[in-house]
Order: sequence, then structure tokens, then C-alpha cells
Amino acid sequence: MPGAAKEVRRFTFDTRESESPLTYEAGDALGIRPVNSRRLVTEWLEVTGTHGSTPVEVAGIGEMPFEEALLRYLDITRITSDLLRFVGERTRDGRELRKLLRPDNKGELARWSWGRQSVDVVSDHPVRASAREWARVFSRLRPRLYSISSSPLVDPHLVALTVSVVRYENPGGRPRGGVCSSFLADAGPGARVPVFVQRSPHFRPPADATTPMVMVGPGTGVAPFVGFLEERRALGHRAPNWLFFGDQHRATDFSYERELTALLDDGTLSRLDTAFSRDQRTKVYVQDRMREHGPELWHWLQGGARFYVCGDASRMAKDVDRALRDIAVAHGGLGEAEAAAHVRQLAADKRYVRDVY
Ligand SMILES: Cc1cc2nc3c(=O)[nH]c(=O)nc-3n(C[C@H](O)[C@H](O)[C@H](O)COP(=O)(O)OP(=O)(O)OC[C@H]3O[C@@H](n4cnc5c(N)ncnc54)[C@H](O)[C@@H]3O)c2cc1C
Ligand SMILES: NC(=O)c1ccc[n+]([C@@H]2O[C@H](COP(=O)([O-])OP(=O)(O)OC[C@H]3O[C@@H](n4cnc5c(N)ncnc54)[C@H](OP(=O)(O)O)[C@@H]3O)[C@@H](O)[C@H]2O)c1
Repeated sequence: MPGAAKEVRRFTFDTRESESPLTYEAGDALGIRPVNSRRLVTEWLEVTGTHGSTPVEVAGIGEMPFEEALLRYLDITRITSDLLRFVGERTRDGRELRKLLRPDNKGELARWSWGRQSVDVVSDHPVRASAREWARVFSRLRPRLYSISSSPLVDPHLVALTVSVVRYENPGGRPRGGVCSSFLADAGPGARVPVFVQRSPHFRPPADATTPMVMVGPGTGVAPFVGFLEERRALGHRAPNWLFFGDQHRATDFSYERELTALLDDGTLSRLDTAFSRDQRTKVYVQDRMREHGPELWHWLQGGARFYVCGDASRMAKDVDRALRDIAVAHGGLGEAEAAAHVRQLAADKRYVRDVY
């Protein structure tokens, strides 16, 4: 959205012309096999002084021109230990790089790597090596997974994703991008993209029409819940559904505002609580909204609701788990240990399910 700090895009894939039929269920993820950016491949060839036409071997695939290997098969962005070791040993002064590889320097390495790609390492620490040697240093380019934000019951041939596009500048001010999210964002309409379905059998809307559902999905975590709600509407399930959504600013980051408002209007969504973290001086997150509505949330859980969480694993999912335990203490009258056991039991009963990354 104009003015947003983040670029969040919805991509819809038409699978009718797919070579083998592609079927999915709400809650599954779509795997995308990206290719690297041509501009980055050209930069690699320039920085290393290698030729794109030199034949190289890609393990498990065979021999091909270096340029083809860089574009389609090799991970040419991630700063790996193998790359740091290779450059650290061959460049004129590799002390800084070798120091970063020390086992006690993991935090420092993560901080230093943030905002850099492997080409930035080589351009700051020049190395003489052949195309064949470089091809052996890189690992294989891996597919990326995205939660599917649609239901096949609406149209079995259309698969929608909600993608936060990773774009930033390196320390020299050069634009850099996440491999797959920028591949999708920069591909024109109608581009053919190789995909596969990654099943998530644990992460499905309730099969029972009367089971209520509580969903916590800040940022791109909202993605699967749009599919869950479409599915329940298509099936005519009348159980109440409650969504907690959050992002930076209401004006620019309210993904699916129109769709969610329509779902509220037609009664598919019973409650929508939002937490726009940067619209006021003090940050407000989805778990703050959960605590504010703790008595009702506890009531829903006691009434058999299933509780779903999707999005950031590193901080959000842990904080939401903490909030759930706090609500069990505050409104269920449980002690700390009992609350922890209660939440563990919800998970064991598959009434508390997460898809976090
Ligand atoms: C089950 C599952 C479901 C997922 N669902 C979704 C989804 O619905 N939507 C979604 O958007 N993503 C989703 N993801 C994440 C997605 O798979 C990718 O990891 C994400 O899009 C980044 O991939 P990329 O190839 O664009 O970036 P990569 O090339 O993998 O680069 C990412 C790396 O870039 C660096 N980086 C990132 N941001 C910055 C920055 N601002 N400054 C400096 N460095 C930075 C970090 O080192 C980061 O690890 C999901 C992941 C899983 C496992
Ligand atoms: N490794 C990291 O440091 C890091 C950081 C961000 C995102 N990511 C990843 O980037 C991808 C896309 O993220 P996204 O843009 O969809 O969403 P996001 O960055 O997770 O942000 C969505 C909302 O969640 C808020 N938030 C931040 N910390 C939170 C916490 N501890 N608990 C609850 N809410 C919190 C954000 O607030 P504020 O931004 O205002 O704090 C924002 O309002 C995901 O894969 C995510 O895992 C990684």
C-alpha cells in the first residue's frame, strides 16, 4: 500500500495449465521454486571476474554454463560458513572473516550478516578463484514455502498467497532483495512459476460445523486464516470465528481490510480485534488485545474453541503462548504450573495449533 514501510502483496496462481493436477486444502502451504535475479548474476560475474559461459558441475544435476548454475541452481545470496571460510582463506586480509567464524561469535556473525549478501562479502574481500571453484562453494538454491490464503471450495484452480517482499539496502546503499519474495514481486502478470503443495495436515479449520475458532495472525500470519474463513463460509459452518490481526499502521498495513469487513458483515467472522503497533506512542500487539479480552477468550476456549496461531516464530508465537497461559491464570483461576499444563493439553488435543516460521 502507498506509504507502507513494508511491501505486502497478494499473488494468485491459476493452476489450470499445470502439467500435473494440483490439489490443496485450506491450511496447506505452497512451495515456490524461485530463480535468482539476472542483475545479481551479472554482478557476481563482474565481482569475481569469471565468465558466464564456463562449464561448471552442479551436484545432482550435471554440467552447465556457470551463468545458468548461478541463475537457477545455486544459493548465491546467503552468507554461509563455507563461503566465509573460502573467502577468509584466499583474500589478502581475511582475519575479520575468520574471526566471525569462531564458535563463540555466532551473535556477532548474525549481526554482521544482516543487510549483506554473499556478493557483498566478495566485493569487500576480493578473491581469485575459477568458476568451477565458486560453483563448489555455493549450496543449492532451496524452494520457499508460503501459507495458502484461499480455499479450494471457492475455486479449486486458484491458489492465493500473501507475501511480505524482503527488500533492503546493503551497507553501501545498494538495493538487495530476498530471493523468492522479490522473484514473485518482480515477475510480471502471467509469469509461469514452478510450485508444489506442502501439506499441513495438522493445520486445518475445524471439520465440525459447530466448533468455534480463534485465530491469531499478525502480519503475513493472517494469510491462512483468510482461506479458513472462506472455507467455513463456503461450507455454511455457523460456529463463531474470532480473528486477532496486527501490523504497523492501520492506514497502510491493514491487509484484507475489505475482505475481513465483508466477512464480519455476513457473520462468518464474529469478532475482529486489531493491534496496530505503531499508531500510538506505546506498542500494542495482538497478545495485548488477547489480554484485554481475556475473560471472553477464556470463555470461548472453555466452550470448545480451537486456537490457531500463524506468523513470526521468533518472538510473536512465544509471546502469544505466554499470554494464553496468563489468561488461564487470570480468568481460569489456575496456578502457573496448572496453566502451563492446561495449554500443553490443548496442544496435545490438537485444539491449539500453530504454523509459525
Ligand atoms: C510454513 C511457512 C509458511 C510461510 N508463509 C509465509 C507467508 O504466508 N508469507 C510470507 O511472506 N512468508 C512466509 N514464509 C516465509 C517465506 O518462506 C520466506 O522465508 C520469506 O518470503 C523470505 O524468503 P526470500 O527468499 O524472499 O528471502 P531470502 O532470500 O530467504 O532472504 C531472507 C533473509 O534476508 C535477510 N533480511 C531480511 N530482511 C532484511 C532486512 N530488512 N535487512 C537486512 N536483511 C534482511 C535475513 O537474513 C533473512 O533471513 C513462510 C515460511 C514457512 C516455513
Ligand atoms: N527475524 C526477525 O528479526 C524478523 C523480524 C520481523 C519479521 N520477520 C519475519 O518476516 C516475515 C514477515 O513478517 P511480517 O511483515 O508479516 O510481520 P511482522 O514483522 O511479524 O509484523 C507484524 C506485526 O507484528 C508486530 N510484532 C512485532 N513483534 C511482535 C511480538 N513479539 N508479538 C506480537 N506482535 C509483534 C509488529 O510490530 P512492530 O514491527 O511495530 O514491532 C507488526 O505490527 C515473517 O517471516 C517473519 O517471521 C523476522
